[in-house]
Amino acid sequence: MTVSGDDDLMALKQIGRIVADTLEAMRKSIEPGMTTRELDRVGRAFMEAAGARPAPEMLYAFPGATCISVNEEIAHGIPGDRRIKPGDLINIDVSAEKDRYFSDTGASFAVPPAPRAVERLCRDGRRALWTGLRQVGAGKPLAGIGWAVGAFARKNGYTLVRNLASHGVGLALHEEPKEIATWPDASERRVMADGVVFTIEPFLSLGAEFAEDGDDPWTLYSQPMAPTVQYEHTVVATRHGPLILTMPGQ
Ligand code: CO
Ligand code: CO
Repeated sequence: MTVSGDDDLMALKQIGRIVADTLEAMRKSIEPGMTTRELDRVGRAFMEAAGARPAPEMLYAFPGATCISVNEEIAHGIPGDRRIKPGDLINIDVSAEKDRYFSDTGASFAVPPAPRAVERLCRDGRRALWTGLRQVGAGKPLAGIGWAVGAFARKNGYTLVRNLASHGVGLALHEEPKEIATWPDASERRVMADGVVFTIEPFLSLGAEFAEDGDDPWTLYSQPMAPTVQYEHTVVATRHGPLILTMPGQ
């Protein structure tokens, strides 16, 4: 969507803060021994208390309030009986709706003690997201995001998953502009309209290039198998640069 006034912006800020605070509450509750279903319940309770509806369940009948992906799973993991162990790499993706507006955020966390390379991957995954965010502004080329994130990954010796794109969001979970690459894409010619709302969610990896289907209809796996992180914010392109909607506790 494109923000057309203060009503849009206030509603987007509200749902943005709810998904950000939900993610933060889930992060704080991660403990070895708990199941991913228990972690999902923390997120569901937080969203329900805030009057928001989990988007994956509402829109796609996803079997959970949030997507929780562990280790070899990199996206759309189903909360269930899997127990979180020390050293696991956990991705939580939270998207929700309130008053017809949607927002989307995500982050990966290494459960201590994690290998140094995985801790570094988490730190650099956040840096990759911010590298993309710095390219956001009204009138700027969308392709700038992928070129900047791609340069960051190459310089620091990482790969990027190249079949999970970022997307417009706001009045739907996935809307125009669709398929925003967080890797270099020579065919990308679009420009960011003033007020356009979208996600940036690069998948930075120690070797994976693609996300691949598994046995269930949801979970995506790294290919080739390697530790992979994703960090996601919802952002508005303004004349003054990026306005990030999914910062916790704002
Ligand atoms: Co997401
Ligand atoms: Co998203």
